Parts: sequence; C-alpha cells; structure tokens
Amino acid sequence: MTPHHILVGGTKGAGRALARLLLSQGHNVSVLGRTRPSGLEGDGLRFVEADLERPDEAAGRLLEAIPGLGPIHGLVFLQRYRGKGDDWEGEITVELTATRKIVDVCIEHFAPAPLAAIVMVGSNAGKFIQNGGPASYHVAKAGIVQLARWFAMKLGPQGIRANAVSPCTFLKDESKNFYLENKKLLNLYEQIVPLRRMGTAEDVAQAIEFLISPKASFITGQELFVDGGLSLHLHDSMARMVAEM
Ligand SMILES: NC(=O)c1ccc[n+]([C@@H]2O[C@H](COP(=O)([O-])OP(=O)(O)OC[C@H]3O[C@@H](n4cnc5c(N)ncnc54)[C@H](OP(=O)(O)O)[C@@H]3O)[C@@H](O)[C@H]2O)c1
Repeated sequence: MTPHHILVGGTKGAGRALARLLLSQGHNVSVLGRTRPSGLEGDGLRFVEADLERPDEAAGRLLEAIPGLGPIHGLVFLQRYRGKGDDWEGEITVELTATRKIVDVCIEHFAPAPLAAIVMVGSNAGKFIQNGGPASYHVAKAGIVQLARWFAMKLGPQGIRANAVSPCTFLKDESKNFYLENKKLLNLYEQIVPLRRMGTAEDVAQAIEFLISPKASFITGQELFVDGGLSLHLHDSMARMVAEM
C-alpha cells in the first residue's frame, strides 16, 4: 500500500519541503491550503483547497476528499495564521480550532498501527518569549503542543501516535534571501547555534518524516525541538557570548 499523508499548510515553507521529500519517495501527498502550491510535482500530489479560518468548512472539504485519497498514514499540521484580521482570533481558529476539528474527522480514516501518526508543528515560541512577538502566536504554539499530548493519550488505544515538532527560526524558500542579505544576523545565528548554522525547512521536514514513519512506532506525546541546540543555552551565558562579539 502506498503511504498517504495529509499536510495541512503544505503549500509553502516547511510544509512544501515535507511534501517534496515525501513525493520524492513515491508517497501520496495531499496538501491543504488556500492557494495551489507552486514548485511541487508528482503523480501522488493532490491539492485540497480550503480556508482554515472556517474550520468546519475546511474539515468538511477534507472529509469529502478522504474516500478518494486512501487510508491516512501521516496527518501533519504546519499552518500558522497569515490573515489580515484580528490576530488573536485568527491564530486560535487557524492553529487550534481547525487542527482539533480536522483530527476529529480523520480519526476513522487512519491506516493501522504502526503506520498511523499525527504531527503538530509548534515553535520555540511555545516555550520562550520572542520580544515583540504577538501573544496570540505564543499561546497558540503552547496550545498546539498540549493538543498533541492530549490526542496522544486519547488516540493511543487506537494505535494512532501524536507528537509535536518545535523548530526555531529556519531558512525556507520564502525567507532565504532575507537572511542571506543580512550577513550580520546570519553570522550571529551561526555563532549562537551550537551546530553553527541556521536550520532549514528541510531539517524540519526530516524530523517530521521520522515521526510519521514506523521507525517512530513507540514514540507518542513528545515534543521534539529542531533548533540545532539553541534552546540549551543558559540565557546568561548567551548574553555574555553576544557581549563579547
Ligand atoms: N518559519 C519559521 O522560521 C518558523 C519557526 C518556528 C516555527 N514555525 C512554524 O512552522 C510551521 C511552518 O512554518 P512556515 O514558516 O514554513 O509556514 P508558512 O510558510 O507561513 O506556511 C504556512 C502554511 O499555512 C497555510 N495557511 C495559512 N493560513 C491558512 C488558512 N487560513 N487556511 C489554509 N491554509 C493556511 C499556508 O497556505 P496558503 O497560504 O496556501 O493558505 C501555508 O501552506 C508553522 O506552524 C510555523 O508557525 C516556523
């Protein structure tokens, strides 16, 4: 059976990198977003057009599409609110409400264990505070990790695993040029990250690929930081390090 994965927010950034990786392995990949993805191709690619600001409608669209897609192996949530309205309402709706509703409609359609897995993408902003960043993003990111733990407990008896992947800022197609042109910022990242480089959308994609694969068959309810070791720094030593640069 060809594995089939649904990537909510798979049209851009880390989602598109994951879609590319899975398609290159011959898997079937359905991406859900508002806009048809560019730079993705493959016989196994499907696009489900839906707006997560209307969670019931989006979950309904997916439910309609599921019979033609095959049993779900990986269900991955990579969206973040990118609208122009109230950011609190938008982030909570797009990130949390839509995720919960989509998991609910998918439960009966997963492949058997150890093939069935959910990954929700959080952020280091779910644990630390980004100076100047909106409260909505921090709260939604903390919430999505707890939602993954909650579903891990609820769906464990059905053989469905649920985990979270929390990256720090990473390079993606859409942001690469900004960082490459800001050498000072890029150099700073290279010095403070223990692995001495910025992460990429592909790094995030590979971590998710592992968690949705049977190789992670006994891992559920965990948060995996994909940050090159950045969160290991004691903040005081980070301040001293930057002061000495
Ligand atoms: N970028 C970073 O450095 C970074 C750092 C830490 C954590 N993260 C997290 O990692 C994940 C991926 O980040 P990214 O930067 O790769 O994301 P991104 O480029 O902003 O892509 C967001 C995805 O969500 C979809 N989306 C947004 N609003 C939607 C809506 N209302 N309805 C349907 N789809 C919607 C977008 O598709 P359409 O535009 O086609 O609708 C797109 O596919 C996110 O959860 C983000 O919070 C990112």
